[in-house]
Amino acid sequence: NNPPWPAYRGYHEFSFAHETMGKRLPTILGKAIDDTIKTLNEQSEEEMMVDLNGCIDRMHVLMHDLQNNAKLRPIKDDGEGDIPLWNRELAKFFRESTFLNSPWLFAEAYKYRRLHECFSISKYWSTYDVFFRQKCDTFSRSNTAVFELSQRFAEPFHYEANASEDEKLKARELLFHELTQVCLWGNATDLSLLINMTEDDIKNLQSTGGEHLAATEKNILGNHLDRLWKLVSNMKGGRIDFVLDNAGFELYCDCVYADWLVQSGIASEIHFHGKRFAWFVSDVTRKDWNWLLNSMVHGSLFSGATDDQIASLRQIGHRWKQYEKEGKWVYEQHPFWCTGYTFWSISNEAPDLFLHLSESDLVIFKGDLNHRKLTYDCQTPSDLPFNMAIGPLASEDGAPPVASLRTIKSDVVVGVDNEVAERLDKEEPGWRISGKYAVVLLSDGRKD
Ligand code: F6P
Ligand code: MG
Repeated sequence: NNPPWPAYRGYHEFSFAHETMGKRLPTILGKAIDDTIKTLNEQSEEEMMVDLNGCIDRMHVLMHDLQNNAKLRPIKDDGEGDIPLWNRELAKFFRESTFLNSPWLFAEAYKYRRLHECFSISKYWSTYDVFFRQKCDTFSRSNTAVFELSQRFAEPFHYEANASEDEKLKARELLFHELTQVCLWGNATDLSLLINMTEDDIKNLQSTGGEHLAATEKNILGNHLDRLWKLVSNMKGGRIDFVLDNAGFELYCDCVYADWLVQSGIASEIHFHGKRFAWFVSDVTRKDWNWLLNSMVHGSLFSGATDDQIASLRQIGHRWKQYEKEGKWVYEQHPFWCTGYTFWSISNEAPDLFLHLSESDLVIFKGDLNHRKLTYDCQTPSDLPFNMAIGPLASEDGAPPVASLRTIKSDVVVGVDNEVAERLDKEEPGWRISGKYAVVLLSDGRKD
C-alpha cells in the first residue's frame, strides 16, 4: 500500500532533505539548547536546575547523534500515547537505520520526538517547550497584519443593506476567495525556515490586502479554489476540520477563516487538530492555542497600538473564546499527529482518528509538513493528480473531502502541470523551498 516512487532521504544531495538533516536541524537544536540555558539562568531552586541540566545533557547527546549520523534507537517510555506507534515502526522497519538513510520525513519527525524525550522523562520539565519564546515573539512582531485583519473582521459579518440574493452570493464567494488565501499565505511564516526574521521580513510575508492577494493568486500553481468553493457553498451548518500547522500568525489567520465559515452559516462546528508537544519548531500545541486566544483578550502584546486596534483584537478574541465555550470550536490533539507515519497510514495506525475525520464535511490540511505527509514525501511526477497522490485518504471507504493549503517549502510537488514545474526548475531553481509558490488542492473523498 505504498506509492511506487522513492521517498526522499537525508543522503539525497539533490534534495532539501540533505540540507535539512545536515544543517538546518543542528541549527534548530542549537537554538533550542540556547533557549533552555536562558531558562536555566532564570531559576533559583536547586532541584529544578539539576533536573533541567539533565535535559540539556540529553539535548547534547541528541546533537551528537544527529551530527554523527547515529542509528535511530527506540524512544524511551515517557507514558505518551504515541510511544507504541514509534517503537513498533522503529523495530519493524528502521532497526538498522540512521538519520541519513531512513526516509527524510521519518528521520526529521524522529528528531523532534527525541527532542521532546529530552524533557518528557524529567521530573519538573516534562511539558517544557523550547520554541515557545520564539513563537510568542514572532506573533508580537506581526502587528501590522494582525490589526489589518482584526479591524476588518471584528464586527460580525453582514451583507450590504438591500443586497439582492445574487449580490449576497457574489459577496460570499469573494470573501471565501480572499479568506482562503489569507489562510493559505499565513503558512509562509513558519519559524523552522525563518530563523532571525526582521520586522520588515515579517511584514512582507504577511500582507493581507485584496490587491496583494489578487497578485499572489497567480503563484498558486495547482489551484482548486473554485472546486473548493463549490463544495463549501453547498454546505449548511456542516463540520469542517483544520489539521493545523503553525502557531501565532498562521493560527490567527486560520481562526479568522474559521470565524467566517461559522458566521456565514457554512459550518456550525469546527474541529482544530494540534500537536501534543513542540513539533517542527512552530506547530500549534494546546498551550499555543490558549496563549493566542487569551493574549488577544487579556494580553498587552503590541506596544504602540491604538485603542481602536486593541479593542478590535479583544472583540474578536472574545468571540473566539465564546465559540469554544459553546462547542462550536473544538481543539483536539490526537497522538498520531506527532508520529513519523505519513497519512497513507491513518486508517491502519489510528483507525479511531480516521473514523472521526470521516464524519467531517471537509478536512483542511495546512502547510508543508502536512502536505509531505499526505503525499508520502516521495519523488512523484509533479502532474500526479492530488487524489492519487494521497492514496487511501482519497480512495478508502469513508474518506472525507480533503483539501491541502500549502505554501511550497520542500521538494515534493503534485497537482502542478509538468511544463510549469520544468520551467521553474530551469528558471528559478529554489522555487520548491522558497515558500513563494503554493497549492490549493482538493480531493472529493468517498463518503457515500
Ligand atoms: O524541515 C523541512 C520542513 O519539514 C518542511 O516541510 C518545511 O520546510 C518546514 O519544515 C515546515 O513547514 P510547515 O510549517 O509549513 O509545515
Ligand atoms: Mg509547521
